[in-house]
Amino acid sequence: MKIVTERLILRPWEDRDRAPMARIHGDPHVRRFYPRVLTPQEVNADIDLAIERARTNGFHFQAAELKEDGRLIGLIGTGFAPDVIRAAILSNPEVEIGWVIGKEFWGRGLAPEGARAWLDYAWSIGLPEVVAFTARLNLPSQRVMQKIGMTYDPDDDYRHPRIPEGHPLRPHVVYRIRNPSLRG
Ligand SMILES: CC(C)(COP(=O)(O)OP(=O)(O)OC[C@H]1O[C@@H](n2cnc3c(N)ncnc32)[C@H](O)[C@@H]1OP(=O)(O)O)[C@@H](O)C(=O)NCCC(=O)NCCS
Repeated sequence: MKIVTERLILRPWEDRDRAPMARIHGDPHVRRFYPRVLTPQEVNADIDLAIERARTNGFHFQAAELKEDGRLIGLIGTGFAPDVIRAAILSNPEVEIGWVIGKEFWGRGLAPEGARAWLDYAWSIGLPEVVAFTARLNLPSQRVMQKIGMTYDPDDDYRHPRIPEGHPLRPHVVYRIRNPSLRG
């Protein structure tokens, strides 16, 4: 599926995205709120999984490229949350939205721009709610959640099941937003 915004093209993964996405996920500064960087092999596997999920579910995290020059800025999208994460969260949320952007593109509001378009898509297919989760320490990502109208839900605070007890990135927070056409 292709979504075009003012400055971005949100589109299915292509093989040409694998090397730039590996550079983004291999950057320790981009990944400072994750326990570690990803190897190129892990990035390839993530892209393969995203392609498969999009085929079976109709949507998943996709590539985001700059309209002006076609450069890949990273990934943005909505997807069914992994079971292991859902099980750790009190409300057992179904669909998440997320983003990982290369650092040379930060600070221009590109993640919120792409994420807003993904929320519009989620509402257009009738999803009732979308959540986002991140490490409590990841304030930049929480700013994106706030900018797109999501609300922090303290009842859903959780400890990431794959991060060891005592690790500073283990405490996670959840933000949520309801489909506006289902309100009232
Ligand atoms: C979080 C992220 C997607 C934000 O993308 P973005 O396109 O820069 O979004 P914005 O321009 O709206 O900036 C959002 C916040 O990021 C922070 N930020 C922006 N530019 C930054 C920079 N150059 N250095 C550090 N932080 C920066 C600010 O806190 C900003 O909030 P503000 O606009 O109120 O000042 C991006 O920083 C990123 O990909 N980070 C690494 C991956 C990650 O943590 N993903 C989320 C996993 S849940």
